[in-house]
Amino acid sequence: MEKPGKISPAKGKLGVLLPGMGAVSTTFMAGVELVRKGKAQPVGSLTQLGTIRLGKRTEARSPQIKKFVPLGELKDLVFGGWDIFKDNAYQAASKAGVLSLQDLQKVKPFLSKIAPMKAAFDREYVKKLDGSHVKKGKNKYDLALQIKEDIEKFRKAQRVSRLVTVWCGSTEVFIRPEEVHSTPTKFVEAMKANHPAIAPSMLYAWASVTSGVPFANGAPNLTVDIPAIQQLALEHEVAVCGKDFKTGQTLMKTILAPGFKARMLGLAGWYSTNILGNRDGEVLDDPGSFKTKEESKLGALEYILQPQLYPMLYGKIHHKVRINYYPPRGDNKEGWDNIDIFGWLGYPMQIKVDFLCRDSILAAPIVLDLVLFLDLAQRAGMRGIQEWLSFYFKSPMTAPNLYPEHDLFIQLMKLKNTLRWMMGEGLITHLGQEYYD
Ligand SMILES: NC(=O)c1ccc[n+]([C@@H]2O[C@H](COP(=O)([O-])OP(=O)(O)OC[C@H]3O[C@@H](n4cnc5c(N)ncnc54)[C@H](O)[C@@H]3O)[C@@H](O)[C@H]2O)c1
Repeated sequence: MEKPGKISPAKGKLGVLLPGMGAVSTTFMAGVELVRKGKAQPVGSLTQLGTIRLGKRTEARSPQIKKFVPLGELKDLVFGGWDIFKDNAYQAASKAGVLSLQDLQKVKPFLSKIAPMKAAFDREYVKKLDGSHVKKGKNKYDLALQIKEDIEKFRKAQRVSRLVTVWCGSTEVFIRPEEVHSTPTKFVEAMKANHPAIAPSMLYAWASVTSGVPFANGAPNLTVDIPAIQQLALEHEVAVCGKDFKTGQTLMKTILAPGFKARMLGLAGWYSTNILGNRDGEVLDDPGSFKTKEESKLGALEYILQPQLYPMLYGKIHHKVRINYYPPRGDNKEGWDNIDIFGWLGYPMQIKVDFLCRDSILAAPIVLDLVLFLDLAQRAGMRGIQEWLSFYFKSPMTAPNLYPEHDLFIQLMKLKNTLRWMMGEGLITHLGQEYYD
């Protein structure tokens, strides 16, 4: 792909559309408003806090990312969303129990005004949930057209110049790619025929992409990871990315595993278990939704460790992932990892990680960065899969026949080099021979 030409400026308001107004969405929106009011700091956000080195180390040029690339500003963000429950963002955030009531009070008028639009929903795909705030339509295609109308109404009412959609809805049951996902025409026919392989999240993806709105997928569902939507993304010149926000245990895995591999330490097994008690945990208690999550979580180690290249070190790994719904914990998940590694002469060692994490606190800055980077990509004319945003995902989407890059540090290098490339700066290879010439 050629280097983008001129990046159009981030003028006007940027609308953020969130299918699913639960723990992650409301923590994200409340957080943006708290930061805008100067009452909190955007910790965890690369777009807000990160810097980027340019040129040689001796040049001492390390601007903030948000000053280096023409990103949208927090003040320009406006929010909308859909949910199967009628609760406005303040009520939903209070129920999610992530942020303290004291923090929520500070942004109550702002959150209370964000009411969800009716959802396109079907219990077949999220068995543990049932809500009444849902659209009616004669088939799935009709529901998708209604979502398109919602998008256009939001665009007009909020007078936004650009939009981005981020799926923050529940994890749906496991669906394999099928023939109906292969082309845009077959996809439309399947929507009209109410085909079971068309999940509600795909209706939002189709509506968004065909409305020219970039789409990020925060859950492990297939959603935009199918040829039909990817082809539409190219035709409509829309940027897409996914899947499944990289938070908690998988974040730890993609930090630790590259380290073991870098030092050629072997791995015999990695047992991961979680307890969590939020609505996401309840949804994942259903075997269908868990299967979708499990596939997403299991992939990372295999790709990082490359057992085909290192059969002696990584050829026989016992990798298990468990998620247990345990209501008393709420959103404050606990993730245990028992890691059996081996070193020199095969001598075994163990590492235990006990991460008392706050899921949505880790996910909210990811949503913010994805909104701002996808909007940037869109203005730069970058369309289709945005692999440079793999940094944010458990199962990064890639071009067909390409294996995904899971190593967090390679992902970050790729992200920053993409920003340098977009702005016409030299890429950083870390060779550094010139300092010794
Ligand atoms: N919290 C994290 O750290 C994290 C990390 C990775 C991925 N995720 C994924 O992000 C998603 C959101 O997580 P959460 O903790 O906010 O969950 P949540 O259960 O609090 O919120 C999800 C919301 O989506 C709504 N919903 C479900 N189906 C819908 C549909 N078809 N249309 C509109 N709304 C719908 C639900 O009613 C719920 O309010 C989940 O899929 C989760 O697996 C979260």
